[in-house]
Amino acid sequence: MGKCRSLTWDGEKLVLLDQTKLPREVVYITCRDHGQVAAAIKEMKVRGAPAIGAAAAYGLVLGAREASLRADFWDALLEVAETLRSTRPTAVNLAWALDRMLQKAAVFRDNPQEAIAVLTREAAAIALEDVEVNRAIGRYGAPLLPQEGGVLTHCNAGALATVDYGTALGVIRAAVEMGKKIRVFACETRPFLQGARLTAYELQADGIPVTLITDNMAGYVMGRGLVEAVVVGADRVAANGDVANKIGTYSLAILAREHGLPFYVAAPCSTIDLATPDGQGIPIEERAPTEVSQLAGIPIAPEGVDILNPAFDVTPAKYITGIITEKGLIQPPYTEGLAALFDK
Ligand code: MRU
Repeated sequence: MGKCRSLTWDGEKLVLLDQTKLPREVVYITCRDHGQVAAAIKEMKVRGAPAIGAAAAYGLVLGAREASLRADFWDALLEVAETLRSTRPTAVNLAWALDRMLQKAAVFRDNPQEAIAVLTREAAAIALEDVEVNRAIGRYGAPLLPQEGGVLTHCNAGALATVDYGTALGVIRAAVEMGKKIRVFACETRPFLQGARLTAYELQADGIPVTLITDNMAGYVMGRGLVEAVVVGADRVAANGDVANKIGTYSLAILAREHGLPFYVAAPCSTIDLATPDGQGIPIEERAPTEVSQLAGIPIAPEGVDILNPAFDVTPAKYITGIITEKGLIQPPYTEGLAALFDK
C-alpha cells in the first residue's frame, strides 16, 4: 500500500484517510454505514473523482447490508444509491461507479445476500482496477514529460484523489520512475488548498521535488521558463473533449497556450462522459461561501460580502494538447478519439 492510499476496505467497513486533516495530522476514519460514506464525500474527507467513485461503491455495499434488513430490499438500495449520487455533482466517476454496481446486482434484486456478495466483489474490482488504470495512464503519459525540467499541476490528482498512485501525479510518478528529473510546481488551489495541503504533502512523502506556488504565480513561473508542461486531472470529460476540473484549470490552460506549453489532462475512461456533448452540459458544484471568506476558520473578508464559489471550471477542448487515458493518448479531434475508446 502506498503512503497516500485514500481508502481501504477491511471486509466489514471502509477506512478513509481524512484529507481535511492533512498535512498536519494523519487521521483515519471508519465508515460503518452508507450515511457516513455520503457525509465523508460531501465534506471532502475523501475527494478526487476516482476516489469518490470507489468510496461510493463501498458505501453501496454498506447500504446494501442496511437495506437487507428491509422487506423492500431493492427499493431501499436504490435510495442508498441516490443518497450517495447526490453528494457531489461534477465528478462523473461517482455515477459511473454506482451504475456499474447496480447493474451487477440487479439480477439479485430478490436475493439480498447474493446481491451483497456481488456488490462487495464489484467494489473491490473497482478499487483494484483504479490502481492498474492509473499505472497505465502513467506509462502512456511519462514519455510526454521532459527528460529534465519543471511540470506544473493544479489541485491534487494524485494517490489521494484516486485509490492509489494518481492520474496527473501518476504520470509524474511514472516519469520519475523512468529516471526523468522532474520538479513539480504545485498551485496551492484556492479555496480548498488541495495543492498546498495534499499535492505538496504526497510528493514530499515520495521524495519527488516539489515547489509550492500560489495560483496567481503560474503566469510568472511560465514566463520565467520554469515549467515545460502542464498536467492536470479531470472530473468529467465531455464527448467533444471539454474538461471539467478544479477551479483555476481553465486559466492555466490559457496561460499554457500563451506560453507555448503543452497542456495535458490525465483521466481514466471512467471520467469520460459521452452522454454529455460538451462542457456546457457539465453540472458545476457550488460550495459554501465560507470556503472563500475564511482561511483555516479565520474570516478574511468583510462579513456579508457576496461570494461566488464554483468548485470546478470547464477548459474548452481547443486548449488541451492531449488527454492521457489508460488506453493511450487521445489527441484532437477529440469527438472521434474519445468515442473510439468505447467501441467494442
Ligand atoms: O474538489 P476535489 O478536490 O474533489 O477536486 C479534485 C479535482 O479537481 C481533481 O483534479 C480531479 O478530481 C481528478 S482526481 C484524479
